[in-house]
Amino acid sequence: GATTETIAGIISAHAHLEGPLLPMLHALQDEFGYVPAEAHAPLCKALKITAAELKGVLSFYHDFKDRPHGRHVLKICRAEACQSVGGTAMAEHLLAKLGLDWHGTTPDGALTVEPVYCLGMCACAPAAMVDETLIGRLDESRLNKALKSVGV
Ligand code: FES
Repeated sequence: GATTETIAGIISAHAHLEGPLLPMLHALQDEFGYVPAEAHAPLCKALKITAAELKGVLSFYHDFKDRPHGRHVLKICRAEACQSVGGTAMAEHLLAKLGLDWHGTTPDGALTVEPVYCLGMCACAPAAMVDETLIGRLDESRLNKALKSVGV
């Protein structure tokens, strides 16, 4: 779960910015994969906005998630070496198939798809990771097999 100190740290790290709310929300989401409900009160307090104003912002920007990751996480490498050998197209194809955007979670809560920037597998690009398992030379059948192995 989200820790109070981490949330406070992220808020104070961005407090000096002009228009700090969006950078704070992005940083929270980068840290937790979503914007934890525990962050709402401290955000409102720090920025002197109401809970309703914050909710308005969160619902306006569809990027912000309010739920944790799915039971399994698929990370697809979006760094240079993987992009150059078809990683981008494969990721887009998969996201379209699942009806998700990056950071999205399937409605059944089974899988979240996250971008990652180099898995140290450049020699076997494109690369991805399902939970703790690295997959190199990613293609559709290897990806489907890996997802099946975790029950997705
Ligand atoms: Fe994808 Fe290094 S760039 S693993």
